[in-house]
Amino acid sequence: MDYQILLDKAKEVSKNSYSPYSRFAVGACVVGASGNIYEGCNFENSSYGLTICAERNAIGSAIAAGEKEITAVAIYSPNSKDCLPCGACRQVISDFSSKEGIDIITEGENGPIVRNFNELLPERFRL
Ligand code: THU
Repeated sequence: MDYQILLDKAKEVSKNSYSPYSRFAVGACVVGASGNIYEGCNFENSSYGLTICAERNAIGSAIAAGEKEITAVAIYSPNSKDCLPCGACRQVISDFSSKEGIDIITEGENGPIVRNFNELLPERFRL
């Protein structure tokens, strides 16, 4: 899997971000266990707490398409390099990630940065 392609897709979908309150656009691209790719952007609400992050939006599309597991998540923001998932998104990613962790891809100065998810959420909650 070419992680630059995933980041490019996350970048493209970040253009659809609905973020009039924070003006912080985010795009995410998720790879399902099938190998199919799903995208999502953040969308905010006038009742601020109802905001949905890009990662959770993309994961929702993957689940709606029938995926049970995800194998990678790429995140892009035009407002911030190396944009990492918030705590809430880390917990949501956790439930669809293998125990060994999945690849979390962000934009670095010289191409994609790849981290293992377990680095971002060690000792995670699981039922
Ligand atoms: N945001 C995301 O989309 N993903 C994250 O992991 C962090 C935050 C969004 C939510 C809100 O619309 C904006 O970025 C500023 O917090």
